[in-house]
Amino acid sequence: MSSGASTDALTAGSSLAGVSATTPAQAVVRLSRVSKRFGKVVAVDEVNLEIPQGHFTTLLGPSGCGKTTLLRMLAGFEEPTTGTVEIDGRDMRGVPPERRPVNMVFQRYALFPHRNVIENVMFGLESARVPRPSALARAREALATCNIENLETRRISELSGGQAQRVAVARALVNRPKILLLDEPLAALDVKLRRHLRFELRRLQQELETTFLYVTHDQGEALAMSDSIVLMNGGRVIQHSSSRELYDAPNCVFAATFIGEANVLSCTVRSVAQDVAEVVIDGITMRASARGPVPEGTQAHLYVRPERVALRQGGEGADLQVTVTDAAFEGGIVRYWLTVRDTQIELVAETMVRAGDAIFPPGASLQASWEAGEAHVLLE
Ligand SMILES: Nc1ncnc2c1ncn2[C@@H]1O[C@H](COP(=O)(O)OP(=O)(O)O)[C@@H](O)[C@H]1O
Ligand SMILES: [Mg+2]
Repeated sequence: MSSGASTDALTAGSSLAGVSATTPAQAVVRLSRVSKRFGKVVAVDEVNLEIPQGHFTTLLGPSGCGKTTLLRMLAGFEEPTTGTVEIDGRDMRGVPPERRPVNMVFQRYALFPHRNVIENVMFGLESARVPRPSALARAREALATCNIENLETRRISELSGGQAQRVAVARALVNRPKILLLDEPLAALDVKLRRHLRFELRRLQQELETTFLYVTHDQGEALAMSDSIVLMNGGRVIQHSSSRELYDAPNCVFAATFIGEANVLSCTVRSVAQDVAEVVIDGITMRASARGPVPEGTQAHLYVRPERVALRQGGEGADLQVTVTDAAFEGGIVRYWLTVRDTQIELVAETMVRAGDAIFPPGASLQASWEAGEAHVLLE
């Protein structure tokens, strides 16, 4: 499995960030075969990773997959068991947290409850012995950047969750770190606020052009915010690519099912020519795109996203004959559960509906199809 971002993935991300698409950004963080063990637990397992400068990169993966441990090794709170961490071209071995060009924002703000907002934001500057007048000016600037100038003298106990998180971000930015590490900073907030703050963080990152390394287990958050996503599982990097590529071209079943929904069907590869595979599922032959060489007879998986499955009634053709087993109206879309006639194959399809559109009832006979290129063969 690939663990480094391909050039394509980087350029796709760059154009989103408004950075020139022709010059991939330089890596500001480079991990080489980094592992971290806690006793018998392998929290991070042989990770090779490059984080491009000035991008918004997200570490995404299920709870316990090693995201926090990876961030803590960058911040200097943990040392790798093996491997090297380089930041800005410097080996970070033995460099304490306060000497690293990074700052971290935690899920639970970690603000000093007895200091007010501006004192919290100034704290790092005072420890670095920045004279008070310039510390104050810089702290005010950080508050302004985060749109919370009005909270300057507020006590921490008087802040809402969203305000507290803005203060935490301002405090982390006041030292002008080269890299801002954010560990699930929105996880404690309610859904609506989370959505709003996503956009604020994204705007902030683009304005400052600071490298953001953002951790989340929320795939929607990752897709919406990131130039590129590092998908992790079991301490390993599974795929590092742009949001679009991760969604449209996942490299394995885990990636296909962790991001969004996917129909994943076991199949046998019959032949491959020019990146198009003919596969057999339960006696039915289907076509799917395949990347790279796939030997004939290989057991593999075919996947297709529910919203790419088109349904129609009547007509002839090579499409699959399906029967609706259940239908759920979910507002803008209808979700259908289908079985392919005379087989055990089950599919889920999502269809946009407009006012007045008919919804196919359970038992309806339909034809399901997808565009060539919407179904892919996955080998693992
Ligand atoms: N200090 C520690 N001591 C022992 N085990 C740890 C420690 N920190 C993390 N782990 C273990 O390492 C694995 C990865 O944890 P973590 O990096 O926190 O994952 P994530 O942030 O993705 O949820 C988990 O199995 C966790 O229990
Ligand atoms: Mg964590």
